Amino acid sequence: MSGKAASAESEGKALTSRATEAPETEEILRRYPPDPRHLLSILLDIQAEHRYLPRETLKTVSDYLRVPEVQVYAMATFYKVLSLKPKGRSSIKVCMGTACHLRGNVEVLRALGEHLGISPGETTSDRAFTLEVVYCLGCCSLAPAMMIDEAVYGRLTPKKAISIVEELQGKVMAK
Ligand code: FES
Repeated sequence: MSGKAASAESEGKALTSRATEAPETEEILRRYPPDPRHLLSILLDIQAEHRYLPRETLKTVSDYLRVPEVQVYAMATFYKVLSLKPKGRSSIKVCMGTACHLRGNVEVLRALGEHLGISPGETTSDRAFTLEVVYCLGCCSLAPAMMIDEAVYGRLTPKKAISIVEELQGKVMAK
């Protein structure tokens, strides 16, 4: 058996032996050869699958790529797009840039936090929403503003922000 074939066989065995641990992660790993250059791509795929990086997947990736787990952890915490905490299906980004801050988004953020029962950076227990703070959405003329997924909402008041979220919650319940 050639070295390449032996290596492919041992990769296959390694994947099979872990297959019951996290089938989605195994499926993602199969898309990439075990080369550390693919670390970021693999983490992005896992993030897309789970909406965050479950801690146990870091070990699985570390074993597969044969890189220290601390290196995987370092990359997982370096990029803002990657998260070790579960994210909601929708992300509410409340702007705290200067224009939005001056026009009352502190109150909007507080009202949304109370309405959802979470603090900024947290996710609701039903994983529907993650509440986040950002610094300028690039639409200061609409201040105070927030973004939910791809949609921007401007000239907010606490009441208006809550009614937007309530409408989305109603849609989620109706599904
Ligand atoms: S400061 Fe909020 S959109 Fe620019």
